[in-house]
Amino acid sequence: MSQVSVVANWKMNPSSVKEALTLAKKIEQASALHPTIQVSVAVPFPFLAAVGAVCSHAKLSAQDAFWEDPVGAYTGEVSLSQLQSVGVSSVIVGHSERRMHLGETDEMIHKKAHAVLERGMRALLCVGERERAGSDIPQMVEDQITSACAGMTKKMIQNLVVVYEPIWAISTTPGADPASADDAFRARLAIQKILTRIFGRAGAEKIRIFYGGSVTGDDVVPYINDAKMDGVLVGGASLVPQKFEKILKSLSG
Ligand code: PGA
Repeated sequence: MSQVSVVANWKMNPSSVKEALTLAKKIEQASALHPTIQVSVAVPFPFLAAVGAVCSHAKLSAQDAFWEDPVGAYTGEVSLSQLQSVGVSSVIVGHSERRMHLGETDEMIHKKAHAVLERGMRALLCVGERERAGSDIPQMVEDQITSACAGMTKKMIQNLVVVYEPIWAISTTPGADPASADDAFRARLAIQKILTRIFGRAGAEKIRIFYGGSVTGDDVVPYINDAKMDGVLVGGASLVPQKFEKILKSLSG
């Protein structure tokens, strides 16, 4: 099995660079104590350089990026080469909060995912449905994956991660309900099947699949051991050092 990954998604937190540094130092310490786990921190753009300067075990991620590169007349956007220049190695693409609040479409997410992978960076492609439905993965998830992955080459998919993050399981969704390990396992199998249809078996086996949604130190192990996820994307619990460390500890234990 490949190395387990834990990605901290700070979202639009914390409120100052001072607080970001305090949190980053704690995450770095915890990562150094658990070197078998691949940790990365996805921090807001203004904090990337400062956080990068205090992290070495923990790798630097961005929460978004623009598809045009390296520079240009795109007010407010941030390019992949700019991100690489401050040490970013992976980028979250298509998080449901961006789809919801910023109107990101499947077409935009396709362009972003391609741009990230063409640069040789790791793309964390988030997919997931809004409502908890039956036991099957809804068509929407298949459409999200198919659209983002169209035209990706064998070389590109080596750095592709698909993150199954159902909106109903995200801790800030009212009435949030974390997926069970069984739900996550079924999602993993369904995603694997979709990827196999697109890339063939050998290609699909190279693509890592993560789970995200209210992950804590108490429930992380079954997502890896039983649901066979390759990693987790952690929002709320990544803002509280003790909670984040507990996740790493549970996985190393
Ligand atoms: P959560 O967030 O862990 O707070 O549910 C996960 C995410 O949205 O990335």
